[in-house]
Amino acid sequence: MKQVVKKAIIPAAGLGTRFLPATKSMPKEMLPIVDVPSIQYIVEEAVKSGIEEILIITNPYKKCIEDHFDKTFELEERLNRSGKTKELEMIHKISEMADLFFVRQKEPKGLGHAILCTKAFVGNEPFAVMLGDDVVVNREGEPAMKQLIRQYELTGSSILGVQEVALEETGKYGIVKTASKEKDGLYALEDIIEKPKENPPGNLAVMGRYILSPSIFEHLKEQKPGALGEIQLTDAIAELMKEEKVYAYQFKGRRYDIGDKMGYLKAILDFALERENLREPLMEYICELAEKNKE
Ligand code: G1P
Repeated sequence: MKQVVKKAIIPAAGLGTRFLPATKSMPKEMLPIVDVPSIQYIVEEAVKSGIEEILIITNPYKKCIEDHFDKTFELEERLNRSGKTKELEMIHKISEMADLFFVRQKEPKGLGHAILCTKAFVGNEPFAVMLGDDVVVNREGEPAMKQLIRQYELTGSSILGVQEVALEETGKYGIVKTASKEKDGLYALEDIIEKPKENPPGNLAVMGRYILSPSIFEHLKEQKPGALGEIQLTDAIAELMKEEKVYAYQFKGRRYDIGDKMGYLKAILDFALERENLREPLMEYICELAEKNKE
């Protein structure tokens, strides 16, 4: 029987070593894209996709993620007193967005291990996973997670959100091997390999969005360290696939790897250019820079 996807997990316990020294005392998920912490965009995507309960996996050094989504009584009171109603409304909305829960991964043992920490929260339901590093926008249509949920409603099976990458980039991702396209971007999964060093099975890469059957926990429990010496979600999916049907779905939207410096800079520029009050002066500045830096 097909169940409804109501819960999402956002793993945000990584150490953020690619972004040191900024991430020495600040979680990378709190780095702002213009003025909104990137993790807030991910929570907003979950909410817009119809998710009701969200569990964020943090670590002992990431308490401020929890604080960000909490009610800030004193700040709200001050904004209220000084008549800053627009700001007050914006701040208030953040704490009302969804039912948020937090769990800590006590040791950095990898994404698979982080997800295993959520077993009690998930229970026996299919659930969404949205990686804290991957901000995805689809301004023309539905959010990436909503697109996956629609596919889940059709198939009732686990689904991995994928997009094409250049062959030389495949070593950075979970790469899938698929059978021929079933329809509209949906493929049956035949194999999946985490960060292949050579001979990738294709160029479709997992892009931080998954819907998983709760049976994944049985396989996560059994996993030994894989790529990078970490317990990998990808390896558990490779086992799950032997027992249950798993699909890959090529979702529409632009994905930014905000754990990577170029990905982060691109996100800031693109998001700023979408703001009415920033677009024109920023474009002028970009043109000025381009002119100055010719050749
Ligand atoms: C993780 C996953 C990988 C996926 C990638 C991008 O890797 O393990 O399969 O392709 O996210 O979503 P990470 O970038 O955390 O090393």
